[in-house]
Amino acid sequence: MNEQLLTTTASDMVKKGKGILAADESTPTAGSRLKSIGVESTFETRNEYRDMLFTAKRIEDFISGVIMFDETLRQSTTCSNKIPFVKLLNDKGIIPGIKVDTGAKNLSAFEGEKITEGLDGLRDRLKEYFNIGARFAKWRAVITIGQGIPSDLCISANAHALARYASLCQEASIVPIVEPEVLMNGSHTIEECYEVTDKTLKIVFEQLKHFNVLLEGIVLKPNMVISGLDCNEQADVETVSEMTVKCLKSNVPEAVPGIAFLSGGQTSDLATEHLNCMNKNHMESMPWNLTFSYGRALQADALKGWGGNNRELGQENLIKRAKENSLATEGNI
Ligand code: 13P
Repeated sequence: MNEQLLTTTASDMVKKGKGILAADESTPTAGSRLKSIGVESTFETRNEYRDMLFTAKRIEDFISGVIMFDETLRQSTTCSNKIPFVKLLNDKGIIPGIKVDTGAKNLSAFEGEKITEGLDGLRDRLKEYFNIGARFAKWRAVITIGQGIPSDLCISANAHALARYASLCQEASIVPIVEPEVLMNGSHTIEECYEVTDKTLKIVFEQLKHFNVLLEGIVLKPNMVISGLDCNEQADVETVSEMTVKCLKSNVPEAVPGIAFLSGGQTSDLATEHLNCMNKNHMESMPWNLTFSYGRALQADALKGWGGNNRELGQENLIKRAKENSLATEGNI
C-alpha cells in the first residue's frame, strides 16, 4: 500500500474545477443506452462511443478522472494508430479508473432489496487493474426506499461489503470510490431520503473505520438528499442543497478529501443546479471539496448528439455539460 499515492490520487480526483466522468456502464447497460438512439451494441460501437467521449478536445480542463468498465479499460482509440485509452487519458492528465463490483443482486430473504457482489477474487483483479494503469476504482451499493425498507440488514451488509472492497483497493494502492446510493425511485419524501441517507452514511463510515480504511485515500460518491421521483411534492433546489449539506456535515469525517455526487436519474440541468447551489452557499464551511461523478447527467446530451456517427456534436454536448459542472464545483454559475 502506497499511502502517498493514495492521498495524492484522491485529492487530484476532487480538485476544484474538476470532476469525474462515469463511463463505466456494464455491457448490458451500455446496450440499452445505445439502443435508445437506435445503435446496435457491439464491441466496436461501444468502442466508438467511448472514443468519441474520451477524445473530446479540452475534456481535461473539466474532468479529473474517468471510470471505465473492464472492456473499455482494455480498448484503444479507433483512429489508425490505436492509442490505448489508459495512455490517451494519462497523456491528458486524466486519471483512469475502473468499476470493480459485479453488480447489485437480489438480497436473499429480503424482498425488494439488493446486495452488491464482486469481492471474490477482487485482490487479484485489483493487481491486474493497477498494472494496466487504473489508479482508482468504484463499487456501487444500492439502497432502496419502499414499504418497510430499507432494512437495517440491507444497509449493514452493503456497508460491510463497501468497507471490504475499500480496504482491498488501498492494499493495491488504488483509491476506492465508496458509493452508497440511496435510489431516487419511489414516492418517498425528501425527509425520508434524508433519514435513510443519514443512517446509511453513518453505518458506512463505521464500517470503514472497523476495516482501517485510510479516509484521506478515498472519495465518497453519495446520492443527493432529494425527493423520490414519484413524490407529489418535489423539493426545490435550495432545499435539496441545504438538506444534502446538512446530512454530509453530520456524517462525513473531515479527513475525506472530497465528495463526488452521482446524478442518479436527475435531469442534467438539475444535477448541475444542485451542485452549484451547495458550493455557492456552503463552500467556505465545508471541509471537503464537493464535485460530480456523473454518468447520465454528463452523457445524456452527448449520446443523443452523437447518435451513432456525429462525433462533433456528441463532443460539443459533452464539453458543454462538463464545463457547466466544472463551474458548479466552485458555485460559479
Ligand atoms: P449516474 O450519474 O447516471 O447516476 O451514474 C453514476 C454512477 O457511476 C452510478 O454508479
